[in-house]
Amino acid sequence: MTLRESLEAGAARLGAGPHPDRARRDAETLLLHLLGKNRAWLLTHLDDPFGGCTAVQFAALINRRLAGEPIQYITGECEFYGLPFHVTPAVLIPRPETEHLVEATLKILSAPSMESAASGRHGWESTSPSKPTGAPSMESAPSGRHGWETTSPSKPTGAPSLAETWEGSILDIGTGSGAIAIALAHHLPRARVTAVDLSADALRIAEDNARRNSVTIRLLHGDLLAPVMGEQFDLIVSNPPYVASADRDTLSVEVRNHEPHLALFAGDNGLDVYRRLIPAAFATLVPGGFIVLEIGYGQSDAVQSLLTAAGFHRIQMTPDLQGIPRVLTAQRP
Ligand SMILES: C[S@@+](CC[C@H](N)C(=O)[O-])C[C@H]1O[C@@H](n2cnc3c(N)ncnc32)[C@H](O)[C@@H]1O
Repeated sequence: MTLRESLEAGAARLGAGPHPDRARRDAETLLLHLLGKNRAWLLTHLDDPFGGCTAVQFAALINRRLAGEPIQYITGECEFYGLPFHVTPAVLIPRPETEHLVEATLKILSAPSMESAASGRHGWESTSPSKPTGAPSMESAPSGRHGWETTSPSKPTGAPSLAETWEGSILDIGTGSGAIAIALAHHLPRARVTAVDLSADALRIAEDNARRNSVTIRLLHGDLLAPVMGEQFDLIVSNPPYVASADRDTLSVEVRNHEPHLALFAGDNGLDVYRRLIPAAFATLVPGGFIVLEIGYGQSDAVQSLLTAAGFHRIQMTPDLQGIPRVLTAQRP
């Protein structure tokens, strides 16, 4: 058999599975992962012979994918905001929707109108108005209700120039693979970034990803804001668990059977973590500081009410590319 024939056979098997639309792409990704080669190499070696142990290993990878294992867990790789991340079943696979949260955060720091906000340590006061950053461009973003279903990587739009000089402090609650904290640290080289997670296994992956992306972040183990008691931050960001346990059966097999439940579920209506996180974040922000939260489908009104009840004002919503409210930002007066 040639590589071309093996690839076609793998794609045909995946084509009979739950994702026929991406069968060819997945088969190619798995083959390249196995061979440790890139696509350009493959295109010039399609007629090479392929068999023996490697062909058996390729068949095993196809079987794992057919059984519903996310391709990112099989390859151990994922891209978020244009940066490479290592992922294992200990962490949620970072979603394209979450790139809106990074974008909204960078936009806050770029807005001259916000210059009185947060601490006086911002470096943007004397600079010119910011360039609009725009939404992250995605090749395809067929989003599920929860934002947990999509896997296509997106391209970053680049960091706003004013944000690069920002010197404040950021706290990422529920950092998982470190996706948000690391993307922000990458684009805000002068910021001091702290990231918390209840999962020690997730923190080990985040540590690995920080090293891989050459950023320094402080990683703390614990429940929500408990590990930073007594500290104050200019910005608090979070993509917390927000799936209602009642919606468990609406999740795909990939998500339900493979991603960590600690990263997904937050009580009967998915609001349990927001209920504890929002008042604690208010108390931990400096006056003028911002909170930036990812939210699930249909949660915008409820989370806005929680923000208002905690004392936040200037609440703004950012929709995802499907028009679903996905990110809320709010300011501590
Ligand atoms: C939806 S995942 C988000 C991961 C990552 N921020 C991202 O966007 O890809 C939620 C994360 O919150 C963590 N988590 C859940 N409950 C927590 C808690 N009470 N305190 C701290 N972290 C928590 C989970 O372990 C998981 O890593």
